[in-house]
Amino acid sequence: MFEQLSQNSSYRNLYQGQWADGVHGDTISVKAPADGKFLGTIPSLHKDEIDAYLRSARDAQKSWADMPVNERARILRKTADILDAGAKEIGGILSDEISKGLSSAIGEVHRTADFIRFTADQGELVEGRSIGSENFPHFKKDKISVVTRVPLGLVLAISPFNYPINLAGSKIAPALIAGNSVVLKPPTSGAISGLYLAAAFQEAGLPAGVLTTVTGRGSEIGDYLVTHPLVDFINFTGSSAVGKHIAEIAGMVPLMMELGGKDAAIILEDADLELAAKLIVSGAYGYSGQRCTAVKRVLAEEPIADELAANVLERVKKLHVGQPKENADITPLINTHAADYVQELIDDALQKGAKLLTGNKRNGNLLAPTLFDYVTADMRLAWEEPFGPVLPIIRIRNAEEGIELSNRSEYGLQGAVFTRDINKAFYVASRLDVGTVQINGKPERGPDHFPFLGVKSSGMGTQGIRYSIEAMSRPKVTVINFQGI
Ligand code: NAP
Ligand code: G3P
Repeated sequence: MFEQLSQNSSYRNLYQGQWADGVHGDTISVKAPADGKFLGTIPSLHKDEIDAYLRSARDAQKSWADMPVNERARILRKTADILDAGAKEIGGILSDEISKGLSSAIGEVHRTADFIRFTADQGELVEGRSIGSENFPHFKKDKISVVTRVPLGLVLAISPFNYPINLAGSKIAPALIAGNSVVLKPPTSGAISGLYLAAAFQEAGLPAGVLTTVTGRGSEIGDYLVTHPLVDFINFTGSSAVGKHIAEIAGMVPLMMELGGKDAAIILEDADLELAAKLIVSGAYGYSGQRCTAVKRVLAEEPIADELAANVLERVKKLHVGQPKENADITPLINTHAADYVQELIDDALQKGAKLLTGNKRNGNLLAPTLFDYVTADMRLAWEEPFGPVLPIIRIRNAEEGIELSNRSEYGLQGAVFTRDINKAFYVASRLDVGTVQINGKPERGPDHFPFLGVKSSGMGTQGIRYSIEAMSRPKVTVINFQGI
């Protein structure tokens, strides 16, 4: 089914409904982070190719928007079926490409299929409304405003390495069901997985040009893409640094930004500590901490901090450290630069007096799960996003201090509060300056129809299936004036 995608491991882009090599012949080698295994090459496109690819996407959009939404939905549902059928093959490639545990990788493909089906269903339910003029003072009953929703045009989707299929599909599907055409710029580490996703849409019968892929390093083609005059919307997920850069140069283009996080889990003294410890560990160390919604700091009230730290430590020590194909919990990080950065934060915390409970061992890009207690505000680990398997415990005197420390972060993605007192839970939740607060749960994006958003340096705009469809469409107003009737 995916034979056209590559020839002898040379992968191609989807352009005008065909699989195309780069005309200039420049390519990027993609290797497995876990063992350096060569996985293939992807084209490194030039500006002239980007112009042609975006022009093709723009030209295809109008007829796609004219297609009845039930037909667009049918193609999305077929895409979902193709993904489910190919989940083992695609998941195996994803696992190799980003060093994600095999079952998690396969699960990501199925999750994306479910996402796309749900999007198709929601897209068919989008309706408009009509408004009479007489509602407003001094107006007569002689106008009716008919409001429908229309697509924005060409959506540029830029996805991150850590969910190269799900966080591409979560942009592409809502954009398509709303009648947009999409240009996907996948992460260089994860590009092959992104191309498999595009192949599933193609196989499902998406008309030529409606979905296009452009591969190449973001640092080289990113600025040209985000400032391109044919782009009508930018849906970006990635680091806060890159997101802010895009926001500075993109000009008059609506943006959706899902960026970094430093999600705090606030553990009050009346919390269920078994539950809290279990969810802290899965939340902090899942995919080796390479999740935007990972628990990235624990703010524990002093009276229970010792017991909580001991419980968390016992669970961290049981984490399986190894290779993606072994379904290890902790696998090698995406690259050496990422591993070096995590080590920097560990070294800084140690140098400033944090208490190392376990970890700080490294074999190449494989870092042992690391847990610190007595982390203080002067340490970088208290504020920076490691995107790796390291977790600081910060001790607090009370809930107010936890709220203040949480809100002092530049980030505002999610937060969590653990307590048995519903009044305390809602009080803390109401005071946290974040997109989402989990009460007695770990921060997470799923279920994918929930609204998902970050504030401050964690982003702008709201994803979550229905929200994404609305973000990538707009009202169209037609006013009927009844003259002299
Ligand atoms: P990243 O380095 O910002 O890259 C994200 C995407 O942007 C990649 O496709 C990248 O391409 C591209 N890119 C890089 N420079 C660009 C530029 N100047 N213009 C346009 N595009 C550019 O992030 P990442 O390392 O892939 O992902 C990790 C980060 O994303 C973390 O901070 C994490 O918190 C955040 N994240 C947030 C969410 C969320 O939902 N809030 C979800 C996942 C990840 P290349 O791969 O070619 O560099
Ligand atoms: O970092 C990716 C972000 O979308 C996390 O998704 O479902 O693992 O919380 P999830």
